Amino acid sequence: MLRFATRPLSRRFRSGYRWVDERAGTTDLVHKGLYEAVPDRGAWAYTLGSATLVLIVLQFFTGIFLLLTYVPSFASAWDSLRFLQTSDRFGNWVRGMHLWSAYVLILVIGLHMLRTFLSASYKRPRELNWVSGGILFFLVLGLAITGAMLPMDNAGYWTTVVVTNIPHYLPFIGDAIRTLWRGGDFVGPITLTRTFAIHIWVLPFLLLALIGAHLYLLRRHGEFGAWVNYSTTTDDPDREIAERIRRAEPPYPTLRIERQYAAPRKTVGFFPNQLFKDTVVSIVLVAIIFVFGFIAGAPLDARADPATLTYVPSPEWFYLPLDQLLVLTPQTYLIAFGVFLLVGLGSLALILLPFYDRSPARRPLSRPEVLVPGLFLAFMVVILAVLGVNRLYGL
Ligand code: HEM
Repeated sequence: MLRFATRPLSRRFRSGYRWVDERAGTTDLVHKGLYEAVPDRGAWAYTLGSATLVLIVLQFFTGIFLLLTYVPSFASAWDSLRFLQTSDRFGNWVRGMHLWSAYVLILVIGLHMLRTFLSASYKRPRELNWVSGGILFFLVLGLAITGAMLPMDNAGYWTTVVVTNIPHYLPFIGDAIRTLWRGGDFVGPITLTRTFAIHIWVLPFLLLALIGAHLYLLRRHGEFGAWVNYSTTTDDPDREIAERIRRAEPPYPTLRIERQYAAPRKTVGFFPNQLFKDTVVSIVLVAIIFVFGFIAGAPLDARADPATLTYVPSPEWFYLPLDQLLVLTPQTYLIAFGVFLLVGLGSLALILLPFYDRSPARRPLSRPEVLVPGLFLAFMVVILAVLGVNRLYGL
């Protein structure tokens, strides 16, 4: 004990680390995490996944900070946020970051999805990477919309009224779900308690579990990257590919028809190459969020007034396409049910994409059967959003 106390500090740290390492295997773990081969070409596009991860971590940090002030009660929620706005500049900045980071997260996760769609990264053996990712996408949307309900200002209150009414369109069990969520027939104090629990416990718990699965699958199969990394260059492609597979660590597909995509032609180390690009993109995004959080902050409408007849509710921008679709269709139960059914089936079809697009083709232009519907869907979402903006803001 005396010998340990008289050693220089650096040696004491080193021997302390060795003690932990021998028991916990930390060095092995860090090496496994850092020294992984990733495809060389297209690396900037592969930064979107880690940027998504960083933004989610930022959401957790800023969210925990908000919990220090926010009061999840129908009577006091608005006052607690008003207090931030008027008396706590730093707290208000954190609230702004929580909002802007959610907005950037939705954009970045959408781009990550688009890039893995275009590169057909979801094909064998990465089907479950896509399925877990697809569910994560909807969880993030769920977090964003339940978060928008919490301030209990007019915008939050009327969002709650509209969103908790959506289950009503489900036949047989819809009304029971609506009553369960609202804690009665109408939005009230219990609705806020339940929405708060969903926002800070249920969805984050599912999110963390699925992110774990998503990252585990990523390390198991390795990064596919994009088709540009897979062309063969010799007269004997079979030998070349066998050589590449021998070099590459993760288990790659072995079906004869997929061998071309078994391992990338040229790889670089995740550390330092990919990690450097990941870090640059994440720092830029976080910096943007810091600035927007500070300058634009997060809005707070007037205190919720359930009796108002003049307030015109407008949806969060990421729900604008769905809102516009509902506005364009006649307001009968059957048609609204049809729209929700269509959106539900469309979402399911998106999550299950790898199970019906099973051809080995990876280049986008060789896959018109998924590229054309995919682009059409993206086009429709943009058109509906533009129409919605025009309706609400007359631009
Ligand atoms: C919380 C949300 C998510 C996180 C934290 C996350 C994280 C990551 C990371 C770090 C990677 C590796 C780097 C990269 O390729 O960008 C990755 C790859 C992947 N992600 Fe995600 N992701 C999320 C959501 C999604 C979504 C919404 C989808 C699509 C529906 C998706 C599908 C995939 C696929 C297929 C890969 C493999 C890419 C390849 O091997 O080329 N992910 N994800």
